Amino acid sequence: MSTASEPQDIDGFAWWQRGVIYQIYPRSFQDSNGDGVGDLAGITQRLDYLRWLGVDAIWLSPVYTSPMADFGYDVSDYTGIDPLFGTLADFDHLLAEVHRRGMKLIMDFVPNHTSDQHPWFLEARASIDNPKRDWYIWHDPAPNAKGEMGPPNNWLSEFGGAAWTRDDATGQYYYHAYLPQQPDLNWRNPDVRIAVHNAMRFWFARGVDGFRLDTIHHLFEDDAFRDNPPNPDFREGDSPTLTFARVHQVDLPDVQDVLAGFRRLADSYDARVLVGEAYLPLEKVMAYYGTPARPGVHLPFNFHLIGAAWKASFIADLIAQYDGLLPPGCWPNWVLGNHDRARIATRVEPANAPLAAMLLLTLRGTPTLYYGDELGLTDVKIPPERVQDPWELRVPGFGFGRDPVRTPMPWENTAAGGFTAGEPWLPLNDDLAHKNVESQRADAKSLLRFVRDMIALRRRTPALAVGGYGIIESRGEVLVYERLWGGQRLTVFLNFAGTTVYTPLAQGNVLLSTIADRTGETVSNLLCLRPHEGIVLDTPQQSESDENI
Ligand code: GLC
Repeated sequence: MSTASEPQDIDGFAWWQRGVIYQIYPRSFQDSNGDGVGDLAGITQRLDYLRWLGVDAIWLSPVYTSPMADFGYDVSDYTGIDPLFGTLADFDHLLAEVHRRGMKLIMDFVPNHTSDQHPWFLEARASIDNPKRDWYIWHDPAPNAKGEMGPPNNWLSEFGGAAWTRDDATGQYYYHAYLPQQPDLNWRNPDVRIAVHNAMRFWFARGVDGFRLDTIHHLFEDDAFRDNPPNPDFREGDSPTLTFARVHQVDLPDVQDVLAGFRRLADSYDARVLVGEAYLPLEKVMAYYGTPARPGVHLPFNFHLIGAAWKASFIADLIAQYDGLLPPGCWPNWVLGNHDRARIATRVEPANAPLAAMLLLTLRGTPTLYYGDELGLTDVKIPPERVQDPWELRVPGFGFGRDPVRTPMPWENTAAGGFTAGEPWLPLNDDLAHKNVESQRADAKSLLRFVRDMIALRRRTPALAVGGYGIIESRGEVLVYERLWGGQRLTVFLNFAGTTVYTPLAQGNVLLSTIADRTGETVSNLLCLRPHEGIVLDTPQQSESDENI
């Protein structure tokens, strides 16, 4: 289902359409100075690994100056590097080394809120008539049902509790979609736009290739501050943050205007990309592409595989639904995991990790791979005394926080995994003996080697990198889809069952299996798939039924 506006030549696709993005959580990739926390110089040391793996672009979670209440998602200087991660010179060096290897660098950017230690907020909270007061969202207290004065309305923070904190100096409340240490900026104030654009220009001018824009669905709130209605879908056991339907708190139409401004800015430089985080239903995510007259971000993250039922039929429907909803000329993308959600190998169980990797890397659209998923890392149990994530602390009993998915990258089978010469800020995985880069690099049957082969196949095969879909269907527990480009047809078979299955109507040569021993095998009709096996078949023949594709 490629659209008329898509290029006919693979060279006509942008790097961010053809390529694979790899997310690094900087605290956990590589420590270079023995303080137990990863840093920029450490990432630079490991770039050859990423080149070897074959990824095209790196997305760095925030490395800006920050008090680290939310580990960098609370920025106190948008144009500074936090000393924990290094210096601006370290950043420039990293960027140059990324570019020297032909890769791209995408920075995280957090436009929705700053740290409460940002000079803008320190000024804003100094007095009601401070010129920066209106850069944030303030409101007088309001009476609750019992007539007691309290927060202005019933809005809740994503991390639990009221989204309002009383400021003792003035008695007013300020709004924060996340922690009290993360006050929301007021995007209705034009000076905020100018200041944030200037910060983005600073990095674009240094040569960064794009931004991943944090939580853009939160940029605006209802300016009449109306209460949210009860959430009709709320079920016992759900997070208390879901008590109300957040209709007045997220996804307001005004967001699109700000995104269009970001896009104009990005487009004033050459070949930059904007990726956007908006956890919303698929139909709503589409609005974040903007319109041809007023484009939004290039890639609004499609998170829907993260919550998907691990069933062939469910995922076949999801693929078709997503592709069908995409506005003309808009480019799809897929994500299996990130620093906020349980790891894929935990969600689908380790035996399915290779299948999940093949799915991610054969779907139409830009894949984003989360560091460590190429090794099949699972969530790491964190002893209570080592918990770091504020989410855990603020919502006792709600999950286990996000530390388990942010643990240090295991490079080798040594106590600290080659990650640090010091004490790692979070424990490493206890299955380090086989889940580490060095061991898996040496093992031709490892997940790491499979992921590398899969990326290489994607890179050299236009049908996989940019082709459209043919059929998308489930045959029992097997998910089947075709990728088409020019005269080439590839068919992907993914066996979701824990048993061997035979699938008819399969033709061609095996290009790759998740179990590394079938490349070159010829299949005519009946394809045997072992438990959790995925296969990419080169199916050159065109049949009559293809004409309508
Ligand atoms: C995004 C980030 C998350 C962070 C939150 C607040 O959802 O991915 O890690 O806590 O925004 O900035």
